[in-house]
Amino acid sequence: MDFAMDPEMMPGLAEAAELARTARRVVVLSGAGLSAESGVPTFRDAQTGLWERYSPEQLATEDAYRADPELVWAWYQWRARLVRSCAPNAGHHAVAAWQRRLSGSPGAGTGHDAGPAGSRGTLTIATQNVDDLQERAGAEVMAHLHGSLFDYRCADCGEPATHDPGTATADTAGAGGPGSTPDLESLLRIAPPRCAVCGDGMLRPGIVWFGEMLPADALADTIAALEDCDLAVVIGTSATVQPAASLPYAALGAGAAVVEVNPEVTDFSTAATVSLRGLAGQVLPALVPAYDGHHGPFR
Ligand code: APR
Repeated sequence: MDFAMDPEMMPGLAEAAELARTARRVVVLSGAGLSAESGVPTFRDAQTGLWERYSPEQLATEDAYRADPELVWAWYQWRARLVRSCAPNAGHHAVAAWQRRLSGSPGAGTGHDAGPAGSRGTLTIATQNVDDLQERAGAEVMAHLHGSLFDYRCADCGEPATHDPGTATADTAGAGGPGSTPDLESLLRIAPPRCAVCGDGMLRPGIVWFGEMLPADALADTIAALEDCDLAVVIGTSATVQPAASLPYAALGAGAAVVEVNPEVTDFSTAATVSLRGLAGQVLPALVPAYDGHHGPFR
């Protein structure tokens, strides 16, 4: 992470970096694009390999789960294992470093990341991502608006449950265990465990499926943070899935600047104060302030 992105090279980067340097209440809204460089496929990518014949829209609904719980459960177990095999990228680390520097967190280490004058402000993270890569980069995430691959609950009684999805080696080892021939069909069907509380229901992932409501508290907290921020940074989202797609407008409506980071033009791009056309892992390290009068890259 010792590369520096030249502000002359990217239109808007110098303006966005100045907004970042002066902001004291920052909100980061992230989507699948933030984790793309870690190897987690985005939702608009076609699925490949084992799951290529299914689209996320076919699998991420309560109807799909009720119709074929083993298929849907297997898909989420596979995704959880995939995420476990991925590491946070430079974009996650840049956001985490920015949060530490703004908060002056004592856990931030020394020197570059420590806020010598204590807290300078806050950086609040609300994500549509169901992975844990931002946390694994050391950041605190306020809201997982679409849930988490690592939370579970009973589909019938709703009681939260713990479950270990295992590791990615299970996906290549075959149903008969390590060394056996992979039985692909068996990987596409895994029976969800029964609920330990009611005994009848099956576990489901703690994901907000299409057609379901977002967690009300997480959504309200996110809107409150946006209405009180001076800068929102919208990273790696296609801005197509509601209500998350509307959230940046709460910041604009409150008079805050909004910087978008995305290699593609989105429906939000023209509304953004600055729209940076680049990869999160390259743009964010250059955007994050060091608070010594300069901007990233961070160490
Ligand atoms: N850096 C920044 N942005 C990127 C990168 C990258 N390296 N790679 C891809 N992108 C952008 C794409 O251009 C696209 O705009 O990330 C976006 C990914 O879009 P989606 O796959 O639609 O992801 P997201 O907006 O998070 O999806 C919203 O859809 O299926 C649902 O619940 C699911 O949370 C998900 C929601």
